Amino acid sequence: MTRRMTLVGFMQAGNVTVYSGSWRYPSADLGFLTMDYYTHIARTLEQGAFDCVFFDDRLAMPGVYGNSVTDAVRYGARPVKLDLTAVLGGIIGATSRIGVGATYSTTYYDPFHVARTFATLDHLSGGRAAWNVVTSVNDSEAQNFGLQTHLGHDARYDRAHEFLQAVTALWDSWEDDALVLDRESGVFADPAKVHEVDHKGEYFSVRGPLTVPRTPQGRPAILQAGSSGRGREFAAEWADMIFTADPGLPVAQKHYADQKERVAAAGRDPGSVKVLPMAYAVVGETQTIAEEKERLFLDAYVHPVASLALLSEVLNYDFAKHDLDDPVTEEMTATSSGIRGLADGVRQHLGREVTVRDLAAHRATLLQGPRFVGTPERVADLMEEWFTTRGCDGFVLAATHLPGAFEEFVRMVVPVLQERGLFRHGNTGTTLRDHLGVARPAGSAAG
Ligand SMILES: Cc1cc2nc3c(=O)[nH]c(=O)nc-3n(C[C@H](O)[C@H](O)[C@H](O)COP(=O)(O)O)c2cc1C
Repeated sequence: MTRRMTLVGFMQAGNVTVYSGSWRYPSADLGFLTMDYYTHIARTLEQGAFDCVFFDDRLAMPGVYGNSVTDAVRYGARPVKLDLTAVLGGIIGATSRIGVGATYSTTYYDPFHVARTFATLDHLSGGRAAWNVVTSVNDSEAQNFGLQTHLGHDARYDRAHEFLQAVTALWDSWEDDALVLDRESGVFADPAKVHEVDHKGEYFSVRGPLTVPRTPQGRPAILQAGSSGRGREFAAEWADMIFTADPGLPVAQKHYADQKERVAAAGRDPGSVKVLPMAYAVVGETQTIAEEKERLFLDAYVHPVASLALLSEVLNYDFAKHDLDDPVTEEMTATSSGIRGLADGVRQHLGREVTVRDLAAHRATLLQGPRFVGTPERVADLMEEWFTTRGCDGFVLAATHLPGAFEEFVRMVVPVLQERGLFRHGNTGTTLRDHLGVARPAGSAAG
């Protein structure tokens, strides 16, 4: 079978995309508190035959920078995050083919809640739901859930693993043919085919069964974006789509090979698990127009403090202690492996020692993923190179501004990818697993 790209639209239910200046772009729609805004974007991606629209999430305002949310609020550094279940519900009603994914944290929710939410979404969407499994990132989130500090990295993954065991047991707690619906005899469902799960582990105790019958996809699709060794192992065992954030093609190719090996070692078919780097495209009618647009994104609309507020949050480190022109020191990189990795990457990119301002600029411009800038043909060339040289199986495409970035991509780049046979013309099946070409999992509760 011809190998084709998987494309996922990377969305945020809030005032900014991953690019923190997005709300200031002149043509950006500021309707992020309306359902029309989200349904318009989802329909646009569906017209472009995207596999899925997926929403990230954070359970707190950025509050690590200066130990306050002041600057995040003032500069719009992602202070708004809507509840995703409601947003997905609206999108499901307005679309018929595209997959719909949302992020839920295994650190701050419970398995029964998450299993029920996604099983419901899978039924109501006719088999299009996906869950992005995250373990969350920082103390600001912990402090909204009765804790002072965030759980340690390995403990988070131990908990996540047990969380998935409990959730999948709940999703399988109804056998596929448990519903009888016989009005005549009065038998609604066969109790022999609906099972308690009796999960008792280190973190959770869940009796079950789930209050939702088995879903069209059997189990909603699983997304995951772990980049550490533990994260990659976890993704290898559980994920159907794996999001990555690598700075360039050689690193991405290594990551791709490593992740596929881990999938095989976990006893799964590497071809059935999609590795998708986060990327974004700046498309123009000419190369000059695209580059001028990129310059606007890079230079004009990002406030460095907004960037540092977001960086502090993701690295759990307070950059307000430093001036923008302070060099990145040993002491800073020793505090956080995240800062070390980031500073090394930026140093390599710039070819000189880096300052806090450089880190802010890096965060603002999304250098952690590839940026494809140019005419539709040029953008397609770059995407093709990543895809055909096994840097990826497709992309999770972020937007510089909304809805424009996705409208332009669908109008200008998708037809070129289709013409080259890299991307399909339409969805062949009805479920998200059909779009991805992955099998519906058999239930585990019978017998
Ligand atoms: C494309 C992409 C989307 C992500 N979305 C979220 C998100 O919505 N919420 C979150 O807490 N973390 C998110 N993450 C972070 C990852 O879940 C993960 O914590 C991070 O890649 C670090 O890997 P590790 O957990 O293996 O250390 C995302 C990462 C990527 C690359």
